[in-house]
Amino acid sequence: MTSPLSRLTRGWRGTWTISGRAALAQILEQLKHRGVRHVHLPAYLCRSMLVPVKASGLNYTFYPIGQDMMAQPDPLPGAAVLLLHYFGWLNPATEALRSRAGRDYCLIEDMTHCLLSNWGNPNETMSQFFFSARKWGPIPLGGWCNTASKVERATRGIESLAQRSIAARRLRGEYLTRPNDLPESLTETEYLNAFRAVEEALDAARSCSAVPADVMEIIDTLDWETVVHRRRANFQRLAELLGGHAELVTPKLNDDVVPLGLVVQLEDRDRVRAQLAEQRMYCPIHWLLPEEVDAKRFPVAHRLAQTCLTLPIDQRYDAQDLSRLGNALLSARGP
Ligand SMILES: Cc1ncc(COP(=O)(O)O)c(C=O)c1O
Repeated sequence: MTSPLSRLTRGWRGTWTISGRAALAQILEQLKHRGVRHVHLPAYLCRSMLVPVKASGLNYTFYPIGQDMMAQPDPLPGAAVLLLHYFGWLNPATEALRSRAGRDYCLIEDMTHCLLSNWGNPNETMSQFFFSARKWGPIPLGGWCNTASKVERATRGIESLAQRSIAARRLRGEYLTRPNDLPESLTETEYLNAFRAVEEALDAARSCSAVPADVMEIIDTLDWETVVHRRRANFQRLAELLGGHAELVTPKLNDDVVPLGLVVQLEDRDRVRAQLAEQRMYCPIHWLLPEEVDAKRFPVAHRLAQTCLTLPIDQRYDAQDLSRLGNALLSARGP
C-alpha cells in the first residue's frame, strides 16, 4: 500500500476493499471463523452498516450511546462489539474498551470518521479496524480493513460506476464553490443519480472486489496535507462564528483531531436544512437510523439523529464560503 493513509495503519497487514461496508464484511467473516456468533452495534449508526451485518448471518443487538456519544455496550461473552468514533474524535469509551478487547469480547473499531486524526494506542493484535475513505474527498470507492483477504478484480460495472461518480463529484464540487456560475439542475441531478447508483451497487456487492487502479491513484495522490489543514482551519472559523449562537455538538478541536464536519443541534433541523439547500448549501444528516433501532429504548440516538446537522468544512471551502454558511445558518435558524 503506497497511500499516505498507510501512515495511519502503521504498516499493519490489511486489505483495500471498495467500501467501508465491504471492509466490515471481511472482518465479520473472519470473526465467524473464530466462533463469534453475535455483534453488538451502537444505536447511533448509519443504515448502510447493517448491510454487511445482515449478510453475515450473525445475530445482532444494539447498545446505547450517551449525549457525548460515549459508547455504552454490554456485550454477551464472546460477542463482537462495534465501536464508532464520531465526527473525528476518538470515542470517549475507547481506552476502557480497548483494555478489555480480546478477553471479554472482540472489538471492531470503525475509523471512518477519525481517519485523519490520531488513533491513539490501538492494540492491533487484539482488535479489528476498518475505515471507509469515501467521506474525505473525491473518492468514489475505497475501504480498508486489517485482515488479509483475497480480493477479486473489479468488475466492469464497478469501474464504470466509479467513473460516473468521479465525474459527478467534480461537477458538483465546481458549482458548490461557484454557486452562481453553473446551472444547478444538471449538476445536482446527475450527482444525486450517480450517488444513488453507487450506494445501491455497494449495498448489493457480495464478493470482495479490488479498488480499480484509477481510483487507487486518486487515493494515493490526493493532497492529504491540504485536506488536514483546510478542515481544521475551516472548523475553527465556523466554530468561532457560531460559538455562543448555536448549540455545537462536536467538542473543542484538539491538536490531534481532523474533523469530518461541525455538528450543530437544532430543534427544527429539517426546516433549516431545506432553507440552506435553497441557497445551494448542502448539509448532510447523520443519520437516518436503521428501523430496528427502537426510539423508546434508544432516545439519545434518536434525538441526535433528528436534531443534528453536519456543516461541511471540507477542503473545497475557504473562509468566505464558511462565513456565508455560518451566517445563512444563523439567519435560517432565527432568533
Ligand atoms: C461511520 C461510517 N462507517 C462506515 C460507513 C460505510 O462506508 P461505505 O459507504 O464506504 O460503505 C459509513 C457510511 O456512511 C459510515 O458513516
